[in-house]
Amino acid sequence: MTDSKRIVLSSDHAAIELRQVISKHIEAKGYEVADIGPTTPESTHYPLHGQAAAARVASGDCDLGIILCGTGQGIMMSANKVKGIRCGVCSDAFSARMIREHNNANMLSIGARVVGESIALELVDAFLDAEFEGGRHATRVDMIGD
Ligand code: RB5
Repeated sequence: MTDSKRIVLSSDHAAIELRQVISKHIEAKGYEVADIGPTTPESTHYPLHGQAAAARVASGDCDLGIILCGTGQGIMMSANKVKGIRCGVCSDAFSARMIREHNNANMLSIGARVVGESIALELVDAFLDAEFEGGRHATRVDMIGD
């Protein structure tokens, strides 16, 4: 386990409770967590939170990010606008592992209105436990950046 990794967490209002469950879960796994909110349930705008989390990863302040909104889609689209971010929205553990192994994703997006708590934690584990394989995949990932 890569216990030195620092993970940024953020969400919109639709996913505050699930984000807090995930935060406790990954802290218990030995990761350092930067939970940048929000903490109050008022309606808010997912692009603000997706881009704030993405900026932490893009700057190198955090190694990886996990972001959530109702579907996981809007916040994922917002994060992917930040240079250097590769964020995938997943609802199955296979995809959550493969976006690390093949796509070198540095952020995972989850839909709190799509998956329940148990599946969400499976996604988080699959994503965090996987490593980028490099090799032929590195060529393709570089092409995304280009
Ligand atoms: C908020 O109601 C909802 O639109 C948002 O959480 C997300 O699902 C957008 O992609």
